[in-house]
Amino acid sequence: MSYSCWIIYNGYLQSNKFIDFANMFDHAANTAGDNTTIYRNDEIMTLIANNLIVNGKQVQRPDYVIFTDKDIYLAKQLEILHIPVFNCSATIEISDDKIKTYQALKFANIPIPETIVAPKTYGLPIHLDNSYIKYVMDTLGFPLVIKETFGSFGEQVYLIENEAALYKKIGEIGGKPFMFQKFINTSYGVDLRLQVVGNEVVASMKRVAENDFRANVTNGGKMMAYIPNDEERRIAIQASNAIGAHFSGVDLLFGKDGKPIVCEVNSNAHIRNLYDCTGVDASHAIIEHIHRVLNSTNK
Ligand SMILES: Nc1ncnc2c1ncn2[C@@H]1O[C@H](COP(=O)(O)OP(=O)(O)O)[C@@H](O)[C@H]1O
Ligand SMILES: [Mg+2]
Repeated sequence: MSYSCWIIYNGYLQSNKFIDFANMFDHAANTAGDNTTIYRNDEIMTLIANNLIVNGKQVQRPDYVIFTDKDIYLAKQLEILHIPVFNCSATIEISDDKIKTYQALKFANIPIPETIVAPKTYGLPIHLDNSYIKYVMDTLGFPLVIKETFGSFGEQVYLIENEAALYKKIGEIGGKPFMFQKFINTSYGVDLRLQVVGNEVVASMKRVAENDFRANVTNGGKMMAYIPNDEERRIAIQASNAIGAHFSGVDLLFGKDGKPIVCEVNSNAHIRNLYDCTGVDASHAIIEHIHRVLNSTNK
């Protein structure tokens, strides 16, 4: 069966990689016989009503939407109109928020780094008393990681070496939400990215940074194709399922004895790097998976 498909990306993110991501899905959906249209998020009006307004005109709803963005209100509004959205708004919301992600993972009994969530301050600079800081230091040791709740490309993840640096970073973060996290030192500058589609891992790579504890490619990490073992596959699939993702890029750290620990679950992972590294264009597997889901619900 072929379907009508919208691919939505965010028009406010300047980098070409976002439109490239939409184009990869466009190509895969066309290859599968679907009729596609790519829209910027601001072309579609988020009207809390039963109408779908695009560029000022009422239009027919598509059979499904590939949502490559984090405009969660728009994704949710499309769902209210009974349009299947991949990934769904609830999944995007969890993935976007690292604390919600760790909570969903822990709830599903999936290994994560030990994490302490800083209290909410309504945007005011945080004040943590000595006993709080002592507990953080005693529990996590140095170096430890401070990670902002919202962030990407490793830019809001910091390695903290001592007490003075800890206080300094807390001051710099001000009122933004963040967490303290155990530094997994067996994974310094190295991690794995497993692309999960449904209940399968379709491509994987190892990322190695020479001069940084963060392995992000945007941060200088080098990619190499990688064949994950059974445990790495199982944990990545469980992590993807734990946030309700149809597809996701799961980052794994190497714990003691190489045991996998989940670092992150990206509901709109950039599949271009993985393609460049492994030759696997995950968009095809994703479209096939979406077709299976739609075919089974339309029976
Ligand atoms: N607790 C940790 N221990 C060791 N390395 C970590 C830890 N958390 C993050 N990292 C490193 O930092 C990178 C970025 O962290 P991540 O949580 O994935 O944030 P981002 O969303 O910015 O990619 C990871 O790919 C990993 O290399
Ligand atoms: Mg990451």
